[in-house]
Amino acid sequence: MSESKTAAQVMSETPIEKKVNLLSGQDFWTTESLPEAHVQGVRMSDGPHGLRHQSGSHDHLAMFASDLATCFPPAVAVGSSWDPELAGHIGAAVGREAVAQGVDIVLGPGVNIKRSPLCGRNFEYYAEDPHLSGALGVAFVRALQAEGPGVSLKHFAANNQETNRQTISSDVDARTLREIYLLAFERVITEARPATVMASYNKINGVFASQNHWLLTQVLREEWGFEGAVVSDWNAVVDRVAALRAGMDLEMPGGDAGRDHEVLAAVRAGELDEAVVDQSAARVAALDRFRASAPGVVDMDAHHDVAREVAAECAVLLRNERTTLPLRRGAHLAVIGRLAIEPRLQGGGSANVNPYRVDVPEQEIRSIAQQYGGSVTFAEGYHLDGDDGGASELVGAAIQAAAASDVAVVFAGLSERREAEGVDRESLDLPAEQVALIRAVSEVAPRTVVVLSNGGIVQLEGWHDDVDAILEAFVLGQGGGRAVAELLFGERNPSGHLAESIPLRLEDHASTLNFPGEMGHVRYGEGVFVGYRQFSTFGVPVRYPFGHGLSYTTFCTRSLEALATGADTVQIQVEVENTGEVAGKHVVQLYVSTAAGAVRRPVRELREFVKVYLEPGQRETLHFSLGRRAFAYWDIDVDQWVVAPGSYTLQVGADAHTVVAEASVELAGDVIAREVDLDSTVGAWFDHPAIGESTFQLLGFGQAAIPEEQLAMVRSMTMRQFLTMSGAPVPTENLDELIAATRRS
Ligand code: BGC
Repeated sequence: MSESKTAAQVMSETPIEKKVNLLSGQDFWTTESLPEAHVQGVRMSDGPHGLRHQSGSHDHLAMFASDLATCFPPAVAVGSSWDPELAGHIGAAVGREAVAQGVDIVLGPGVNIKRSPLCGRNFEYYAEDPHLSGALGVAFVRALQAEGPGVSLKHFAANNQETNRQTISSDVDARTLREIYLLAFERVITEARPATVMASYNKINGVFASQNHWLLTQVLREEWGFEGAVVSDWNAVVDRVAALRAGMDLEMPGGDAGRDHEVLAAVRAGELDEAVVDQSAARVAALDRFRASAPGVVDMDAHHDVAREVAAECAVLLRNERTTLPLRRGAHLAVIGRLAIEPRLQGGGSANVNPYRVDVPEQEIRSIAQQYGGSVTFAEGYHLDGDDGGASELVGAAIQAAAASDVAVVFAGLSERREAEGVDRESLDLPAEQVALIRAVSEVAPRTVVVLSNGGIVQLEGWHDDVDAILEAFVLGQGGGRAVAELLFGERNPSGHLAESIPLRLEDHASTLNFPGEMGHVRYGEGVFVGYRQFSTFGVPVRYPFGHGLSYTTFCTRSLEALATGADTVQIQVEVENTGEVAGKHVVQLYVSTAAGAVRRPVRELREFVKVYLEPGQRETLHFSLGRRAFAYWDIDVDQWVVAPGSYTLQVGADAHTVVAEASVELAGDVIAREVDLDSTVGAWFDHPAIGESTFQLLGFGQAAIPEEQLAMVRSMTMRQFLTMSGAPVPTENLDELIAATRRS
């Protein structure tokens, strides 16, 4: 855009038709240009675990091929790394590839919460926890944008399922929205300033996200200070004029001139203020600051190394009985399973990257085994997608190979077809033929290791106890094959931790009651009790909790100290030590537990974490500084974050269910002056910090001891009801004075 004039000046001199023209794309991936104002359109491409830049035919379902790019580990894996620095490495690398391919805006990352394990797009999201998602999203966006291009933070908001994603209304209460579903967006927007935010397809409490003024203007811009452009998800806009009014600037994709006429007609009829058009056009025009100045050159082999490095930090060692892993060097291995030769790299749909190179697990395992004088026999075991022709032969060969081995390593999991954008999963089960194969192999093999490849968690029941070790590799991108091989042989030490709980049964998940909804609505009935917040609070047993992950070494956590440094801030220090024989990375997970406040709190919530590298015997003292938001809940009464006065316990967890060190502090918190009147409950009067005690005395409760249950009944009545029913002779002017005092305080 012209440097010498402000955006407002430029827009005021631009004819309305041209301004409106800027508000939708030129085609599938690019925005319009306005040469007279020196605005050049920008080019977008899907991401974010690699680019899906289509220089040929276009679509948003990845039906047409895209240019070769590095396929980094998708968000499901990065979430399990618990390492923002790694998220940053991917962001920077994708940023460099974007510059090289002439892409100005990368569509991602997605920081939606994994509400239900059935969501078909969970592979594109980081975690069931908003703090973890937010921290990873911030690091990714900062690093990518530091390379020049911008991002589109998506899918804003409460888009947590694929079933009816274009029409469903996510019905979520305000506290749950703020504490769970908006939080990661808030962090990325306020801390990393993404170029654009993508409004999702769904409705929120009955209003389409792309037409939701509360979401796009009140919260996003007025509260969080977002200054970039809001982009629609592809074809998400229903009412073009309502969307503009709500704060949705750019409709994508473009090419439908009819929609421009709707906007023009609304302006001409006085139904849409031209200033709204000016403002959105200026925001879209300002995107040209993300245009790459000159295409760079990328060292794709170096990026492949990044993909491998990151992948090795993401896999989660779930189980390791009898020290089966790392594999003994020189062992004879049976590597079993189609997924060992046809690895699952990612999920299906718009985020599907065309990898320029792929590490094949079976080859990588063979090459390391041979290096150590061991050997590998491969057996396919099953056909992916249950195409069972000849399966019994495949099973027979696999059993034979397993029986003749020292260790059988079975690659099991889901095909890309089973986890893709646009559809939710029907169950968490592995294909039945794979379960049968695992069980048959484990009966004959001296040791059995299962390596899982899946974009969202799978059920482990029915075969878990039969096997010695389980490495949950999720989908690890193009370098996953090498990473898995190195982890199995102990060349690297596993350090991934679950970013999503693995329940014993799908039905144990509170979301199951309300998923995927009915009659056009999905009710987020579990409220803030999402994932581990439900399981740990209500003592629901799970197979593996959020935060779980084993290592080839052991760590000890001790000496946690917490000090309140103000009414709502706390300093924490804690010591960790590598007590085992090998070096490794440890994730210190810091949770806050409290019952303070007027709302029901989850038993503990993740508020901070850090991943540290420790040599054997090495100790480190870690320091954390928690600000008020770590202790706050969203108060629907005053419509703001509130820190309730009371006791708070800082807990370090080996996972969300296992506390290994804790200390408590008292926080003065916030004094919330809520106004009362005759229709407020007596309880609200009694609890008021300014007038509570006086009210108690005025109503005569100070003089006589009354039984608890009677007091509870009184507290639940409104003051008006109490006065009428009790006939208590309370002078009106005294009550009026107390009411006035609540207005002053
Ligand atoms: C997806 C977005 C994607 C867009 C463009 C939509 O269907 O929901 O995540 O960025 O298509 O491909």
